[in-house]
Amino acid sequence: MNKVVVGAQWGDEGKAKITDLLAQDADLIIRYQGGCNAGHTVVVDNKTFKFHLIPSGILYGGKDCFIGAGTVILPEYFEEEVGGLIKDGIDVSRLKVSPLASITMPYHTEVDGYTEDTAKKGKIGTTKKGIGPTYTDKYARIGLKIQDLYSKETLSEKLDVILPLKNKTLEQVYGLKPYTKEQVLELCDKYAKIFEPYVCFEWQELLEKSKGKKVLFEGAQGVMLDVDYGTYPFVTSSNPIGGGAAVGSGYGPKMIDEVVGVAKAYVTRVGEGPFVSELTDEIGVKIREVGHEYGVTTGRPRRCGWFDAVTMRYAVLVGGLTTIALTKIDVFDEFEEIKVCTAYKDTRNGKIYTSYPTDVYMHKYLEPVYETHSGWMEDITGVTEYEKLPENAKKYLARLEELLGVSISIVSVGPDRTQTIFKK
Ligand code: GDP
Ligand code: IMO
Ligand code: MG
Repeated sequence: MNKVVVGAQWGDEGKAKITDLLAQDADLIIRYQGGCNAGHTVVVDNKTFKFHLIPSGILYGGKDCFIGAGTVILPEYFEEEVGGLIKDGIDVSRLKVSPLASITMPYHTEVDGYTEDTAKKGKIGTTKKGIGPTYTDKYARIGLKIQDLYSKETLSEKLDVILPLKNKTLEQVYGLKPYTKEQVLELCDKYAKIFEPYVCFEWQELLEKSKGKKVLFEGAQGVMLDVDYGTYPFVTSSNPIGGGAAVGSGYGPKMIDEVVGVAKAYVTRVGEGPFVSELTDEIGVKIREVGHEYGVTTGRPRRCGWFDAVTMRYAVLVGGLTTIALTKIDVFDEFEEIKVCTAYKDTRNGKIYTSYPTDVYMHKYLEPVYETHSGWMEDITGVTEYEKLPENAKKYLARLEELLGVSISIVSVGPDRTQTIFKK
């Protein structure tokens, strides 16, 4: 069965932990979108591995890991990440990168940084990894792909089109330094060497031969950060939703049998943008501290709030989620009360929304409607069977399933691989 792991909230739901678990049974693991804006953590035997671009399945060795055409890659970051894994003794010989993946150039990160630093209104709070500007150029058809690095002729022809435009924008719009063709060619030469051991020109054969085998698709970010369906413009620039896997991997949608939505038992968000169930009081601080909610990529404190069934139902719909992996439920071990946002109320007219209102500029008028659940007040981090969970934890999970209309088939009670309950 081929599965996609999709973040069901605003990212950092614990996708990497779930990918790592499901990768045990997979032959090929594919990252299909995003770039090094992602920060994915896997904990195995008390050792923590952090990934940005490389599929978490790499830890098993013996499995093909493929970074697909839908991704954007910052070469220096990729080099550093691969170097770190090699240092840790991880076998990266089966890591493969699509020649169709887009390259993040220095001017992309410069523009991202400039836009963020000078924004007075409308700041997105990006990771400043050049994600938006790289995707912008891709869709404007003035981007560079990894395959371009290996043809001097292609590169030269493309740069003759790209650079005059790029330099005009860099200088006149952003007041940034232009690039000469020689400078860019030199950079590309360096990048060609970085990718050389990994670029997979035989990717069509790789996909063909994996057709009868088990393929796992690893999403980055989350449905609410999706460029089409998320809290636009406070989103990333790619499609983390289940459908994004078909676009970014090279396989058609019929290859996908299941879409596992990963959600935390509460909600977090890094960066700007609306968040109706956000807690700015001491409960939010308690969730952040108990849950260690600080960004893997930027170290920023994550905004925290109660589980939001309104956005989650929306995520089930647009993300194509067929089942849920609920993580970090152990964070509530010492919470007497746990709330769930079941609807939004418009403070202007009392209107109740149970479906997600997509005009996020109106969210400032919305307040959460909560129902309250009793906590279980015991340590569940060692529980490995669903039946052994405290009654109140089971009630909480059953209620979430009822609200979302899909099963919760995996419950995660700690960061380690072993701290997982597979519900039958
Ligand atoms: P991702 O981006 O979705 O892969 O998630 P991150 O790695 O950014 O953040 C999830 C964090 O929660 C990581 O530090 C994980 O080790 C940790 N984690 C994952 N699942 C659980 C869980 O069930 N309980 C606890 N306490 N921590 C978890
Ligand atoms: P993982 O895969 C959480 C957020 C940023 C910002 C917005 C746009 O670890 O879940 P970008 O740099 O992508 O242009 O920033 O998206 N963001 C994430 N938030 N987890 C992530 O990845 C994120 N990747 C981007 O904070 O709000
Ligand atoms: Mg993360």
